[in-house]
Amino acid sequence: MAGSEISGFYKKGLEERLALVKEFAGLSEEDIAELKKYGAMSFEIGDRMVENVIGTQQLPLGIATNFLINGKDYLVPMAVEEPSIVAAASKAAGIARASGGFKAEASPPVMIGQIQLVKVPDVEKAIKEIEKHSREIIDLANEADPVLVKFGGGAKKIETRVLETERGKMVIVHLLVDVRDAMGANAINTMGEKIGPRIEELTGAEVRLKIITNLAIYRTVKAKAVFTKKVLEESFREGNFKGEEIIERILDAHHFAANDSFRACTTNKGIMNGIDAAAIATGQDFRALEAGAHGFASLKGKYMPLTKYHKDKEGNLVGKIELPAAVGLVGGAIKTSPIAKIGAKILGVNTAGELAEILAAVGLAQNLAALRVLSTEGLQRGHMGLHAKNIAVMAGAKGKEIDEVAARMAEEKNIRVDRAKELLKGFRGK
Ligand code: MEV
Repeated sequence: MAGSEISGFYKKGLEERLALVKEFAGLSEEDIAELKKYGAMSFEIGDRMVENVIGTQQLPLGIATNFLINGKDYLVPMAVEEPSIVAAASKAAGIARASGGFKAEASPPVMIGQIQLVKVPDVEKAIKEIEKHSREIIDLANEADPVLVKFGGGAKKIETRVLETERGKMVIVHLLVDVRDAMGANAINTMGEKIGPRIEELTGAEVRLKIITNLAIYRTVKAKAVFTKKVLEESFREGNFKGEEIIERILDAHHFAANDSFRACTTNKGIMNGIDAAAIATGQDFRALEAGAHGFASLKGKYMPLTKYHKDKEGNLVGKIELPAAVGLVGGAIKTSPIAKIGAKILGVNTAGELAEILAAVGLAQNLAALRVLSTEGLQRGHMGLHAKNIAVMAGAKGKEIDEVAARMAEEKNIRVDRAKELLKGFRGK
């Protein structure tokens, strides 16, 4: 079998790349035919975005409904493989809508670039020199991105920190940059490289890493919504939970997360289910959002949920979320991926801040939906329908058979591929 050491894979044409992967992985002709099915993103577009492209990976694109954020209506595109996420977001947005929807606010888009100084001859002196020349350093950084400056952004401030490490003291310079409607990584990394040599001259230290931090503590977004007991109660078709009780149960679930990292981690996973899905649909760097969210969740030394809940004077549930929001409308996949471009168009966003506000609202909605179900009837009931359909398809069901097999398995509460196969055989035998 061929190995993975292939020199110049990137120079080879599509057919040759496919032939190599086919041989390596023992792919069939059918597999290759599937890989050759392009959707909106052609090979040429994909090949310009990343290296060594052999196809495109597709995800279902769903639309979450009911979102009312700062008085504006949104349909939220969500690209995600997990069942129930789109439905859950829509459901919670509907509950929030009844009391005016979400209020959200993004902070100014200030990102941080980190510059690491090692072998610092005199830490105090280095910091003084940097502070004394901060205006000059900022101006130098801004020379790297005149367009950003023209639009009112650019480097604004310098902060310094000292780290006591196993490898000696390090000085870390933070360059605070207003990145306007960009995600900011490119601008910041370029600026870091521009000012690195000058910082070396000023401090006599060695400048090493020059890179953005995803822990964007100055670029956060907050969202808030009220979920009334009346609408929460009505959200259960059978009416088997009273509004007050649902709220008490959600508060118990929230305080579980607020006091336990194991639970907080899963709560935040649920929040990011929604945020990532909307971020992917709009071509955002969802890994940056993930990293930022989890860094922010542990900022106070203990890993916490990104949401908070309390009861207001009327006994209704108030939910809040805050997290870093490094999203952009300029540069990145939002400008190259055809579906991401349409995703942004469906949202109708005008600024990166507005996109951040939508993501925060989606995160809060997703969390409320999860807590509402988990603390009452449990997750599996809701999952059952789609899950059963997936199992039916895995068993070979086609067209109408899928619904028939899925419905029977759900009825029997026995959702397994072997049962689906038996049922299918039975239906086909008739
Ligand atoms: C599953 O993808 C997400 C949940 O586990 C989130 C949560 O537990 O809050 C349902």
